[in-house]
Amino acid sequence: MSPRVAPSILAADFGALREQVRSVLDAGAQLIHVDVMDGHFVEPITMGTNAVAALADLGAHLDVHLMIERPERHIAEFARAGAGTITVHAEATAHVHYALQAVREAGCRAGHSASPATPPAILGEIGEMLDLALCMTVNPGWGGQTFIDASLSRIAGVRAIIGPDVELEVDGGIDRRTGVACVRAGATLLVAGTSVFGADDPGAAFHELSTAIRCG
Ligand code: DX5
Ligand code: ZN
Repeated sequence: MSPRVAPSILAADFGALREQVRSVLDAGAQLIHVDVMDGHFVEPITMGTNAVAALADLGAHLDVHLMIERPERHIAEFARAGAGTITVHAEATAHVHYALQAVREAGCRAGHSASPATPPAILGEIGEMLDLALCMTVNPGWGGQTFIDASLSRIAGVRAIIGPDVELEVDGGIDRRTGVACVRAGATLLVAGTSVFGADDPGAAFHELSTAIRCG
């Protein structure tokens, strides 16, 4: 599978959100990453179902990254708003298997998000519930952080556990250099916030990053 970039709207200009998203869709983006934060699981509060609903008619697959406590309570609502993929953190719920089951029952792709210190062994317990494994390459909570270099061996380890066919997403500090290294380590889906929406021309930045990770 050819690696893809999912621009994260966390770094977008919210006053012009639909135009910003259209600019990357016009440049070929298929997925848009939506970072939902509740002020508890992580410090910041960002956006909720209203942001998902505001983008639902643009034709993108909406990749919703839940950084919220008790995500299982909100899955049906995010699915109704237009989520295509929903990822949850195991540390945010006592019932991660149940939460992943709820994501699939709601008709979405189910993903587990691993923070830098999450033991990868959990993937062995929930593997059959996963359409996607997200390996965070920064600590969850903020855009614009520096890529954690030790992530590369973690990505390779996750790939070895999930096998060749499950999507492996990376998230945090992704630019051309780190993106190429992540793909070499086994990533197939790269979230990029600052390096796309922080650029003067997000469409051009998306195109350059996508080309770089495909050419290696
Ligand atoms: C961080 C979020 C990321 C964030 C990435 O908690 O999960 O998706 O938007 O932003 P950059 O690409 O700026 O590191
Ligand atoms: Zn994210």
